[in-house]
Amino acid sequence: VPGISPAKAKKIKKVGVIGCGTMGGGILMNFVQIGIPVVVLESKQEFLDNGMAIIRRNWMSSVKKRKLSPTTFEKYMSMIKPTTQYKDFSDVDLVIEAVFENMKIKKEVFRNLDAVCKPSCILATNTSFLDVGEIAKSTSRPQKVVGTHFFAPANVMQLLENVRHPGTDEETIATVQELAKQIKKKGVLVKVCEGFVGNRMFGVEQIEVLRVVLEGATPQQVDSVMYKFGWAMGPFQVGDLSGNDIGYRRRDELGLVEKPFNGPLGEYSPFFVTDNLVKQYNRLGLKTGKGWYDYEDGQRKPIPSKQVEELIIASSKERGITRRK
Ligand SMILES: NC(=O)c1ccc[n+]([C@@H]2O[C@H](COP(=O)([O-])OP(=O)(O)OC[C@H]3O[C@@H](n4cnc5c(N)ncnc54)[C@H](O)[C@@H]3O)[C@@H](O)[C@H]2O)c1
Repeated sequence: VPGISPAKAKKIKKVGVIGCGTMGGGILMNFVQIGIPVVVLESKQEFLDNGMAIIRRNWMSSVKKRKLSPTTFEKYMSMIKPTTQYKDFSDVDLVIEAVFENMKIKKEVFRNLDAVCKPSCILATNTSFLDVGEIAKSTSRPQKVVGTHFFAPANVMQLLENVRHPGTDEETIATVQELAKQIKKKGVLVKVCEGFVGNRMFGVEQIEVLRVVLEGATPQQVDSVMYKFGWAMGPFQVGDLSGNDIGYRRRDELGLVEKPFNGPLGEYSPFFVTDNLVKQYNRLGLKTGKGWYDYEDGQRKPIPSKQVEELIIASSKERGITRRK
């Protein structure tokens, strides 16, 4: 990166993660697997237990496939300290926040971290869309605030968007760029903008696939075509894997859920279908066991859903769109 010397990178010996959901769990696995111990915080003990059970299950599935030894599995588990208390973050070198996509909640988390973390500690956010510079304002160390945007599943996907805001300092940028290499990711440095790079592209793709289903196709037809085209997974399956609530929360914060006619296309936003999926039916995806598809207990195999089909047909009707075969 021009103007950024890798020599400025700081050694990271211990990492903190806030939120043990879809992303927090996957993110922390990266660090443990390269020998860096992690402290992970949730707002409630039951959420913490739930998140830890998923991490355990993920590694256990590697043990069953003989890709991980039982001894290494035990070592990994012993390197995670689950907590509900911020005071446990006093000696970490970097914290990655992965709580709900909401500015107010993120600012509160960063205020809490700023109060307990040592001054040199880097405070990173995994936000998908929010202004990292705005989050930084809730701390006394905006120069140490940066975005580290992982992609789901965070322990598998190679891309890491490191997001600098105008005040992020050289040491912080160099550190997260070097860290990407250590955890075997491709670190791409980007600036703050709506959706950064990955989600900005994904957003446009989502608009198109939603239009296609409103015009007559089913999610499984779209996914199957994209799979045959060579994608690892179709766009509706990706939605269920990542969580359909992420985009919903963002649109809700921008007032676009109540006013879909202000959508990115000017005329109407096809995202109202996703928003109804989340708001009316709580179909968030794999994490609620139902999204664009139904799922059997703990299984990832997508099963076409009658409820979703009805929702889509009703949505087309609502917008006066004639469905084609
Ligand atoms: N899911 C994805 O594909 C994806 C990809 C990249 C970035 N992100 C971003 O990562 C962040 C987390 O997303 P997710 O998909 O993991 O969401 P999630 O709903 O699966 O997990 C969020 C977790 O944060 C916890 N939490 C909420 N408020 C908290 C608080 N105040 N203190 C501590 N814990 C709290 C929740 O209990 C939950 O377990 C969001 O900002 C999202 O936009 C998500």
